[in-house]
Formats: sequence, C-alpha cells, structure tokens
Amino acid sequence: MAMVCLSDFEAYAKKYLPKTAWDFFAAGADDGTTRDDNILAYKRIRFRPRMLRDVSVMDIRTKLLGTEISFPVGIAPTGFHQLAWPDGEKSTARAAKAMNICYIASTYSTSSLEEISAAAPGGFQWFQLYIHRNRAVSKQLVQQAEALGFQGLVLTADLPYTGKRRDDVRNGFRLPPHMSLKNLEAAFEGDDRSEYGLPPNSLDPSVTWNDIYWLQSLTRLPIILKGILTKEDAELAVRHGVQGIIVSNHGGRQLDGGPATIDALVEVVEAVQGRAEVYLDGGIRKGSDVLKALALGAKCVFIGRPALWGLAYKGEEGLQDVLRILRDEFRLSMALTGCSSVSEIGRQLVQFSKL
Ligand code: FNR
Repeated sequence: MAMVCLSDFEAYAKKYLPKTAWDFFAAGADDGTTRDDNILAYKRIRFRPRMLRDVSVMDIRTKLLGTEISFPVGIAPTGFHQLAWPDGEKSTARAAKAMNICYIASTYSTSSLEEISAAAPGGFQWFQLYIHRNRAVSKQLVQQAEALGFQGLVLTADLPYTGKRRDDVRNGFRLPPHMSLKNLEAAFEGDDRSEYGLPPNSLDPSVTWNDIYWLQSLTRLPIILKGILTKEDAELAVRHGVQGIIVSNHGGRQLDGGPATIDALVEVVEAVQGRAEVYLDGGIRKGSDVLKALALGAKCVFIGRPALWGLAYKGEEGLQDVLRILRDEFRLSMALTGCSSVSEIGRQLVQFSKL
C-alpha cells in the first residue's frame, strides 16, 4: 500500500488495530461534532497565493521558546502509545528526535518519563501534566521531568473530568493487563484502576488559575497552557505568566459543541498580542492546514491522532513517514503561496470563504 497522505495511515490503523484501540484513538465526545469540525473548518479557509517570488530555496525552520525545530509541527500529548505499537512512547521519542521536532509526553504514557528521556537523549521534549487530587504525585512528576531534562511543562486545562466518549463506554474500554500508566504505577498501586487505567475520580476538578502560581513555585520550566479557546482565558493566561498557549479542544474529546480550534485561534492571537507564543492542535491532516494555522498566528502546530496512526503503521519509522509527508506538503504549500521562509507567512495569505 503506497502511503501518500495522512489519511492513508488512518485507513491502515483502522484496518489493523484492535477495535477497542481504534475506537479509543478516534473517539470524540458525544456526537463528535467538534472533533469533526476541527477538520472541516480548514476547508472553509482559502489561500490568497502570490506568484513570481523565487521559491527556489526554502527555509521551513522555526523556534519554539527559543529552541530551533526543523519545521513547525510537533507531537501533541496523547496517552497509551503501546496500544498502537509495542515500544510505545519510546518509539515516539526516537521519531521526534530524528525529525528534530518537539514531543510533548503525556502524563498518561505507557512508558515512564525516564524511559522516554533515555530513548532519545538530547531530544526536544516537553512534559504534559494532569493535576491529580493527590498533589504530591503531580509535584513529584513535575520535578522529575525537570531533572530529566524536559524543557517545558504543558498544563492541560480542559479536563476537570473526562468527556463522554460513547464507544469507550460501549466497549468497556480498559488498558490491557500488560500495560500500565508507568508514571503513576507506584502512586496508585493496589487501587481499582477501572477508569482509563486510573482509580475513578483521581483527577483534581478544583484546579484554578491560582494553580499556575503553584506550578511556578515547583519548577523553573516554562509553562505552556493547553486547552484555551477564548480571548478571556488567553488574557488570564498571559496575566498568570505562562510562556505559551496551545489553542486546543482536546481533539473534540472533551466538550462537544465548542469551536474548531482554527476558528478560535484568531481571537486568542489577537488577545495575546505577542506576549506569549500561541500554538494550535486539532484537525491538522495536511501541510496546507499547517500553513493556514501559521497564517492565522500560530507559531507551531501539534498532531495527536496522525502520530498514533504512524506508530500503528510501523512504530518509529511509521511516525517518521507521517512527519516527512506533513513536512513536504507544508514546504510545497509555502512555495505555491509564494513564501520561501516561515517569517513571510502572515494573515495576508488567507481569506475566509463566504460559504
Ligand atoms: C489525546 N489528547 C490528550 N491531551 C492531553 O493533554 N493529554 C493526554 O494524555 C491526551 N491523550 C489523548 C489521547 C488520544 C487518543 C487523543 C486522540 C488525544 C489530546 C491531544 O493532545 C490533542 O489535543 C488532540 O489529539 C489534537 O487533535 P488531533 O490532532 O488528534 O485531531
């Protein structure tokens, strides 16, 4: 099977993964409206391409909080990579390092932070945190991530409770017995782990903006807030001193009925006014989607499900294939719109369709 675009990897993963794993990866909350709109929204945006601009030499590199990456795509945090490939997050870490991009490792990884860090020494990695009721557990993870050389702390803000994903309920989704949430194994030893590998109600739904100050007291890592969709929250994020914001709706897995992330991006970028870096995830499936997000003000985008499809195809190699395809499509879209470097990408490049 020739793997030409990201949908080819999706089709492969759907065909070959066990149904419960596929359903878990694919799930959106409730009707899946927001999940699907993340993708559809890109189709409502058109380019305003410019011609005759010498695109013989292309520079697609950029920087994330000062660290250079080879192109503006990273790996969003997703849990349970061993459901896609036996080596799980270790393969993800190796692929990200080989491609010189940023990998955000999830709290809910099936490899430990030590294993992830050791799999790709010197790789550009951020750690994504969910705050648990047992704050000592969260504190220990943050400090461990910093000690291991992770370069950023991503706090996910949109999951006080887990969204209702119907297929997981129907399938009675559980982690297979040979897998565990390695970062939390010791903390929850002996507990009933029926909820996505965790004891029920282990997440702390009382988290507020003040907890950003708590995190700042624990670590010197830059803090990136993930799950912001409005100008009001973007302003609060900046006021609380975060260095980055990821415009995200969790791939449509949390609140169904919220905006597509590409639609929410503009108001966030306008509110932030350059006081923090703004990134986006959700629905990126083509290089031209990356270009649209950058044109509307994102510094970088992150992919969730497509990374899992790459892993399901051929582990580290499959994920590299996915990233190479996205990189090459992005470079081509840039050239065809008349941009030879990332710094030339701007709002003038897009128009919203009046459909
Ligand atoms: C996620 N996401 C997620 N986010 C997070 O902060 N921590 C996590 O552990 C997870 N786990 C997770 C598992 C799976 C299977 C999916 C699909 C998603 C959300 C993720 O970081 C990201 O926001 C979305 O996946 C982006 O949308 P796309 O690229 O999947 O369309």
